[in-house]
Amino acid sequence: MRVILFSEDSETRKLISGVFLTNFKKLTLETGDTVKECIDKMLCGEYQYKIAIIDLSIKQSIDELFEEVTDLLEDFPIILWGDHLSAKNRIPQNFTNINPTNASIFAPFSLNNFAIIIKQALAWIQDLEDREKTVELDKDECVAVKIKNFYRFEEMDYDVYLEKGDDKFLRIITKGEAFNQALIQRYVRLGTKELYLQKEMRVKFLDKTIDNLFIFFTEESDENRVIYQAQVGAACVVHEYIRTIGICEKVIRLCEKIVAVTNEVYKNLNMIRVLKDFPLVDGDISEQSILASYVCEGLVRGIGWSSDLSRVKLGLASIIHDCALENGELQKLVSIKDPSIIKFTEEEIRRYIKHPKIAAEVSKHFTNHSEIDFVIAQHHELPNGKGFPEGLNAHQIPQLSCVFILANNFVKELVNCSWTAVGIHSIIRTFKERYDTGNFKDPMKALEKLF
Ligand SMILES: [Fe+2]
Repeated sequence: MRVILFSEDSETRKLISGVFLTNFKKLTLETGDTVKECIDKMLCGEYQYKIAIIDLSIKQSIDELFEEVTDLLEDFPIILWGDHLSAKNRIPQNFTNINPTNASIFAPFSLNNFAIIIKQALAWIQDLEDREKTVELDKDECVAVKIKNFYRFEEMDYDVYLEKGDDKFLRIITKGEAFNQALIQRYVRLGTKELYLQKEMRVKFLDKTIDNLFIFFTEESDENRVIYQAQVGAACVVHEYIRTIGICEKVIRLCEKIVAVTNEVYKNLNMIRVLKDFPLVDGDISEQSILASYVCEGLVRGIGWSSDLSRVKLGLASIIHDCALENGELQKLVSIKDPSIIKFTEEEIRRYIKHPKIAAEVSKHFTNHSEIDFVIAQHHELPNGKGFPEGLNAHQIPQLSCVFILANNFVKELVNCSWTAVGIHSIIRTFKERYDTGNFKDPMKALEKLF
């Protein structure tokens, strides 16, 4: 196993090399005179390094180097070495969040402490290697499920895999063995969006995820970020359930619960506070759905509608309206005239054109809430009449739909801007030119008031 040492000081390099030669003979320590030399070694890919040691006296920003090395090491352990206690204030803030065995050691050095730190790192690596086993599976017999659904599990009744290509899969969760959230977070940080299960496990998995979410929502967390994360996970499972199995009573109840939570959370907040804590990861369908439900909540209050019915209808529309879109990229389109539509297949475009109607049909199962279907069917109409499927204009679209269209299109823009005051006000300025007309006038005023 190879360890890489970042130090610009030859004495430190000599000291640490000596410690490794005497005490960790099975580990190969490599180093270089400069940070660049070490990074080049990691980049060339000849060897895979599994531990990095960073001397805190190097000139470069430790935060930046830590981030770069974490990426190259794929979250394997990093040890910080400080030859003076004052180096402690250079430790990056999220240092121990990335890997639980990330640790630091300061002068006067104790060989005993150093050995404990290295052994903890090696145990973590061993545990990961025992857990991760490459297996061959027929991809047609597997189903992909969003990784964010795994946040509320601690153990699975079946194995869970990461796709490596050519029918090769890495088993990362073993049936019956406990795992923690840090494991899931690691794969999320490494860019994993989906994990795989054997096909026959899908219904079981989605049912159990819904049960876990109900438990979470009953426990009433007081941390808004965690609540948003659960709502996004819930929207994600709702979409997967509807697409692969269909709508059922349990899914309807989960949608109603998501909407009730939005209302409850927003009571003590405003839109700026929501954005401050909202866990935007990739702006996908589930994140946009939940954000839209909050914007709708804000608009309903801004317009002054006192009826809970409109609020619930808009919340449910936020969750359901794009449930028929399998390719998340399609959700970024506002209209079928969007030039980027050419990158999709004919089948995807056909399905895109039909998705408001398909989702409207699904929403008819929400028998306690009538009229959600027309809001969903109209969610791609535009004030200038250039939307679809009907090409209605700002005077023909009912105001309830106008609120939803405005909120939904605002969220599409929002996920692409940096959420700075300047970015948000620039979207609102552009929207004012487009939406300050017909039945969009009052919702537009309410949107301006939100920020
Ligand atoms: Fe849509």
